[in-house]
Amino acid sequence: MVAISNSNYNYLNFLAKFGIGGAHPGGIELSKKVFQKESIKRSTQILDVGCGTGQSAAYLALTYGANVTGIDNNTIMVEKAKERMASGPLSVKIIEGSIENTSLLDDQFDLIISESVLSFVNKPRALKEISRLLKSGGRLIAIEHTLNEHTINKEEENEIKQFFGFDALLKENDWISLLQQAGFHNIEVEKGIVVDSEADYHFSKDIDLEYYSTMEKLAEINENYEEILSYRIYLCTK
Ligand SMILES: C[S@@+](CC[C@H](N)C(=O)[O-])C[C@H]1O[C@@H](n2cnc3c(N)ncnc32)[C@H](O)[C@@H]1O
Repeated sequence: MVAISNSNYNYLNFLAKFGIGGAHPGGIELSKKVFQKESIKRSTQILDVGCGTGQSAAYLALTYGANVTGIDNNTIMVEKAKERMASGPLSVKIIEGSIENTSLLDDQFDLIISESVLSFVNKPRALKEISRLLKSGGRLIAIEHTLNEHTINKEEENEIKQFFGFDALLKENDWISLLQQAGFHNIEVEKGIVVDSEADYHFSKDIDLEYYSTMEKLAEINENYEEILSYRIYLCTK
């Protein structure tokens, strides 16, 4: 087993230092398939919560001409997302901040996407904020790690939670309850499929060796828990 010796070398900092785009299960190719089923137009106002390096935000602006705002609370991710947007005239605004408490105005978005972000935050708080920001009838799409209906022992559970920095490991019904409690309806759940997405890296110049251990540990976790830990796409309406 590869040990991670220092909590600064956590999973999210590893993603930021490597500048991994499409850092959610299924990657950008899954996102493209999911977006195709929504009615996204030039006038659609979209918020990409925990936008990371901005791969989905850029794709939505380029493909649909939509107005996209990306928010992320990691300074390195925000810098890399801004760099990506500077490479062309894209209608994307990137802001640094937490989705648990933003200064954005009420009822301004038609669509909010959260691609592997809710698992890392205070979920009730973030969902309350997302609901506040969505227009009535607006859509939320969340692609989130989800436990399959397998039994998992405490040790395994702790290993996964500790590695990713999750406060809990949720099953499909747990996610549905959270969405319902936040007032969302028409909740649909799609099972994760395996999709090949091209790697997208924007490396920082100063990557500590320790982060390469995080990469090894990620591969180990993915392999060991492939049957247990999967993902779902949660689609719902405010
Ligand atoms: C697994 S990454 C996914 C990034 C991006 N959605 C993607 O698919 O490439 C999770 C992202 O959520 C961001 N994040 C974590 N907590 C957050 C919070 N409270 N508010 C905003 N962003 C947050 C992290 O900085 C990171 O960029």
